[in-house]
Amino acid sequence: MSHDTIAINQRMDKFDGHHSVWLFGYGSLIYKADFPFIERRPASIANWTRRFWQGSHDHRGTEAAPGRVVTLVHAAGAVCDGMAYLITPQVFAHLDHREKNGYLRLATDITFDDATTTEGLVYIATADNAAFLGPASEYDIAVHIAASHGPSGPNRDYLMELAQALRAMGKDDPHVFAIEAFLGSL
Ligand code: SIN
Repeated sequence: MSHDTIAINQRMDKFDGHHSVWLFGYGSLIYKADFPFIERRPASIANWTRRFWQGSHDHRGTEAAPGRVVTLVHAAGAVCDGMAYLITPQVFAHLDHREKNGYLRLATDITFDDATTTEGLVYIATADNAAFLGPASEYDIAVHIAASHGPSGPNRDYLMELAQALRAMGKDDPHVFAIEAFLGSL
């Protein structure tokens, strides 16, 4: 699969006809909401865990030297905390461009922090996309992030802003916080 997912995402028709759709964000979508939204609520999705396993050629790295950003990996029983946004379908044109480096829109159940649920969408970069980098130790991920820069800025800022946003929401993520600690020691 090519890592430009815009065309595939534009064919995603599950919520066609809806006036608004809930989008779950778990990476930069938590702290960088550069799109209009009707409402935003802390939320989580089940059976996925956040990992810095996706290459970034367009935001936090380059074609020659991709950075590392988050995707979600299946993990039975896991809970991934993030932020849910109620958006109009028009916003997907912007989001599909922003998330074009391997991310596909998938339907998911979303649980708000008050335990109510809804169905919505999440952008996930699966292991079969060309930009997928896969596992590495948290120390090696920190070293990689420390050396990476792209059009959206230093890869380090992506990680630090994500860690700060999770902390501000009172959420734990041992993977993110371990990489943050290694980055601080480099
Ligand atoms: C997300 O934040 O939900 C997707 C990954 C990213 O854009 O960082």
